[in-house]
Amino acid sequence: MGVRIIGIGHYVPDKVVTNQDLEKIMDTSDEWIVTRTGIKERRYASPDQANSDLSYEAARVALARAGVRPQDLDVIVVATVTPDMSFPATACLVQARLGIRERPCFDMEAACPGFIYGLELMRGLLSLGDTYRTGLLIGTEVLTRIMDPLDRNTAVLFGDGSGAAVLVKDDSEFGIISTYLGGDGELGNLLYLPAGGSRMPTSEETIKNRQHYLKMKGREVFRHAVQWMQQSALIVLEKAGMSPEDITWLVPHQANIRIIDSTREKLGLPPEKVYVNIDKYGNTSAASIPIALSEMQEKGLLKKGDIVLLVSFGAGFTWGAVLMRWG
Ligand code: COA
Repeated sequence: MGVRIIGIGHYVPDKVVTNQDLEKIMDTSDEWIVTRTGIKERRYASPDQANSDLSYEAARVALARAGVRPQDLDVIVVATVTPDMSFPATACLVQARLGIRERPCFDMEAACPGFIYGLELMRGLLSLGDTYRTGLLIGTEVLTRIMDPLDRNTAVLFGDGSGAAVLVKDDSEFGIISTYLGGDGELGNLLYLPAGGSRMPTSEETIKNRQHYLKMKGREVFRHAVQWMQQSALIVLEKAGMSPEDITWLVPHQANIRIIDSTREKLGLPPEKVYVNIDKYGNTSAASIPIALSEMQEKGLLKKGDIVLLVSFGAGFTWGAVLMRWG
């Protein structure tokens, strides 16, 4: 039993924040940000926009491109670390916005590889007999709400955006070919959000100490990201009995151009086989891969039969890859 993406869409907020804008408010430079990360600008949600607003816009596009009506959906899953609120799930808020009821809707959290984990989850759900035939998976973030605007180590890296995919059961040769997921909680303290949960509930103290903002040991995260992006890509290829030469497109998580380049080099791929948009959006965590796929679709870059390799790494640590035949 296979699973195939039949429609993909994305939404990014209108507000563009350039490296030059950041130079004015913190001790950084366009030159540092571009050479160390590849980022030139990113999008910020407006104060009245929450995650479900971005998700709804991306979902509308994906549904229209798939030719699927909201009422045809059997399940909605949102992958995010920045939900509107702890509960109800952002997926439930999106369901309401889409004007449908009485379908399962829930959020899942796997940080940057959230969309990759979500594809595996959807593959499982859609294989449960005839219970679910059509699913909506959204990878989406409003990371600017959890990043410290005064911390130059992280504030230059992240942006907001949303990407959505409509998936169906499919027994043809198109769709997901192989998947691989991994994780290592021992390293969770290298990238985390300390306060606001049950471990460290919100208090005046936590706010004063800026513990509601994400913390990252960038250099160490970088090292593990390089290792697991490379390894995940090789594992899904091996599972499929394929080699790097079979890949039409590598679509990596957009966290750092140097991590992307190292993955590409490990696979021996030329730059033109790798989709990169980190310069425009920065790191949008779970949204980065579906945004990339949607842009590629809009530009006519994805052709029926293309072999597409998705690979990601993030907080947890979590990592994973999905190999698919586009169509
Ligand atoms: N502008 C200017 N200088 C900056 C800066 C900024 N925005 N941010 C950090 N620096 C400085 C540091 O203070 C440090 O100075 P020091 O040597 O005087 O202490 C120097 O630049 C180098 O910092 P370092 O952290 O070693 O840089 P780096 O080359 O590792 O790049 C990251 C930093 C964050 C870009 C990089 O580590 C990274 O991309 N990490 C992984 C991110 C990731 O993949 N996240 C997980 C998935 S979401």
